[in-house]
This record gives sequence, C-alpha cells and structure tokens, in this order.
Amino acid sequence: MLRTYIADIALPSCLYNASGARCVTAAELDALAESAAGAILSKSCTPTYRAGNPLPRYYENEWGSFNSMGLPNEGYKYYAKYAAVRPHRDKPYFVSVSGLSLDDNLMMIEALGKTPPIDAIELNLSCPNVPGKPQTGYDMEHTNETLRQVAPLCLNKVWGVKLPPYFDIAHFNETAAILNQYPIHFVTCINSIGNALVIDPHSEQVVIKPRNGFGGLGGDYIKPTALANVRQFYTLLRPDIAIIGCGGVRTGIDAFEHILCGASAVQVGTALVREGTACFSRIEAELKTLMQQKGYYCIDDFKGKLKEL
Ligand code: SIN
Repeated sequence: MLRTYIADIALPSCLYNASGARCVTAAELDALAESAAGAILSKSCTPTYRAGNPLPRYYENEWGSFNSMGLPNEGYKYYAKYAAVRPHRDKPYFVSVSGLSLDDNLMMIEALGKTPPIDAIELNLSCPNVPGKPQTGYDMEHTNETLRQVAPLCLNKVWGVKLPPYFDIAHFNETAAILNQYPIHFVTCINSIGNALVIDPHSEQVVIKPRNGFGGLGGDYIKPTALANVRQFYTLLRPDIAIIGCGGVRTGIDAFEHILCGASAVQVGTALVREGTACFSRIEAELKTLMQQKGYYCIDDFKGKLKEL
C-alpha cells in the first residue's frame, strides 16, 4: 500500500529517516534496517570523522526540535563500507554527503558513485550549522556550479539534493530553473529552518551552546514551510524528479499531507529522535488507516492531488 519509487529504486514503504536522525553509527543504521522504514539514509558525511559542535547542541520542546550539531559523522569511508555489511540488503541504502567545500563533495561523490551497494546519494546543500560555511542552496551561482561539476560523476547512480527552505516565489523559480537543467533524480525538501533562536525565559539563556545559540528548527514548527516547499517544487520541477518531503512528519496525517502536496516519499527526523525507530510502524499504521478511510489503495491515488479552493 505504501510502496513507492525514487527513480528505479523501489521502497517497500514511503517512510524513512531524515539524514541526521539516529543514523550516525552502524548500530543506529542497523536499527533502521530492522525497522519498518522503507530505506536507510546515513548521516551527512564529510571526508573524515568530525566530532561536530560543542554540547549541548540539540534541544526539543512540544513544538519540535532545535539543533546545531555541526555534522558529527564517521567520515564517508565508514558509510561506504557499511553498505556492504548492512543487514537487510534488500532495503535501499542512501548516503548523504555534505562536504565543507565543492572539492570535498566531488571527491566523496566520485568515490561513493563507484560503490555499488550504495543505492543513491543525497547531496546536502543546506546544512546551516557549520561556523563560517553558508548554506550552498541559498547561493544560486554556487548551487549551479556544484551541480554542473557533480552531474558527470553520477552517471550511473541515483542522486538528488537536499534543499534549505525557501520563502519567496522568486527563489523557488530561480532554484527550480537551475535544478531542471541537471539529471537529478530527486529533491528533498526541506532541511531545518536555519539560524533560528530558541531561548529559555526562566534562565534568560539560549538553549544550545554552538554559534551563540543559533540553530536549525525542525518538527511541528516547520511543517507549513515544508509543505509549501514540497508543493512549489512538485509544481516547478520536471515530472521525472521525485520530491521527498521532510519537515514536521510526526503522524500519519502529516505524511499524508506531504504526499498530497506531491511527495513520493517522506522522511522523519524529530519524531524519530524522540520516539526511536518504532515511529515508522506507528506512522505507517496511521497513514494506512487514513488511506483506507478515504478509499485510497496506493500513494499514487492521491500524490500531488491537492485541491484548490
Ligand atoms: C548538522 O549536523 O548540523 C545538521 C545537518 C544539516 O542540517 O544538514
């Protein structure tokens, strides 16, 4: 019922993890493999191990999450090696790449592109948390140049990009015009809303340590922005580019809304961190119940079919 495709990759369920949420170590990736998630996506990797930003760097409240992790990860070779030893090899395995420079990205993508057990590469153009490194996705020239150089390295690999949230129609149009020029297979919308500030009025302090307390917002806070980005890119991009929705997916209704806006698959971040991998079977059951109530048998029955008033 929830089966979906990203390019020619079949996912038994359209729900899987957002990069960053419980996907740094082999033990966490194994837990995703054992869960009801339809795919496994690694933490965004860099050329070598990174400890990330100082603690505390993650905070959550009833409305969502707030982080400035700073790309803690084991280095790309770790995620490449994991591809060959992971359990449930039939479940697609994607690696997220987030180099600190274009050269980093080219080097990693060239290597990962030649690693057959990796099914797809998600190039992260939107990490807001590395001091001194702006989000590539907000720099149109740099985005274009990145895609121009990455595309020839991905001729035999399914690949896509993870975008930051956009808030202006001109930026949706400009970004879509760039993406449409390249043979990408998917676009993930959205990363956290960067450079937000959550504070504690009791202690009169910021709640995370890095970058003077500024960080990326996730969870319920961001669902309307995520839906807007999914919808805009579903409308503006070539029809062969799958949209992967990410942002504020806590319930089956949230996943349904992302798909209604045009998502072919839906990633779960904050809810996965909070609840653990059991969130996938719960959200899946909620989504299936809703689909049954509405008389839908597969996600294509309602994907992208948002009605206007
Ligand atoms: C982080 O590690 O800081 C989060 C990564 C991201 O938001 O892309």
